[in-house]
Amino acid sequence: MSRAHAVLWLALAALVACEQDEVAPEAADSGTMDDAGAGDPSGCPPPMERTGETPVPAEIADILERRCWLCHGDPVAMYAPMSIVTWEHVQAPRDESGQETVYEAIARRVHSERFPMPPITFEQLTPEERDAFDAWFADCAPPGP
Ligand code: HEC
Repeated sequence: MSRAHAVLWLALAALVACEQDEVAPEAADSGTMDDAGAGDPSGCPPPMERTGETPVPAEIADILERRCWLCHGDPVAMYAPMSIVTWEHVQAPRDESGQETVYEAIARRVHSERFPMPPITFEQLTPEERDAFDAWFADCAPPGP
């Protein structure tokens, strides 16, 4: 492992550790992981197990490629919990509870001040990139044309 990688790992490990400490409900305030995203996806279909390789819209794929695939590619890297590459990936349940889709989790985290995605040690989304995500979430994260 290169030196740069080792430093990155330490930063990430600290981030994950701190997050696990702080997700208790009483610690929640504005900007926590539990915040709903701006593009409110309620009213969208619930998560569904889907398999396939349907692309997401090109504009979204472009942002994901630049900002997220370092870790959330297919396969994942750096302990990222899921791939965020295909439309099926984003419509899948975020975890076994089936309560939330992956894109709803994305909506939450790209607006989180305390636990943003990309992680705080990485270059953050521009307002334009966040707006593009929000418009897509508001539309229930449809596939590309
Ligand atoms: C440097 C690696 C890295 C990058 C870049 C990155 N992530 Fe993550 N992501 C992680 C790790 C590690 C976790 C698990 C720890 C956590 O939840 O913070 C995670 C968790 C998540 C989760 C699960 C959140 C939850 O609460 O269930 C989502 C959604 C997510 N990332 C979306 C994104 C999106 C969207 C981008 C790009 C805009 C992105 N990530 C960029 C490493 C990364």
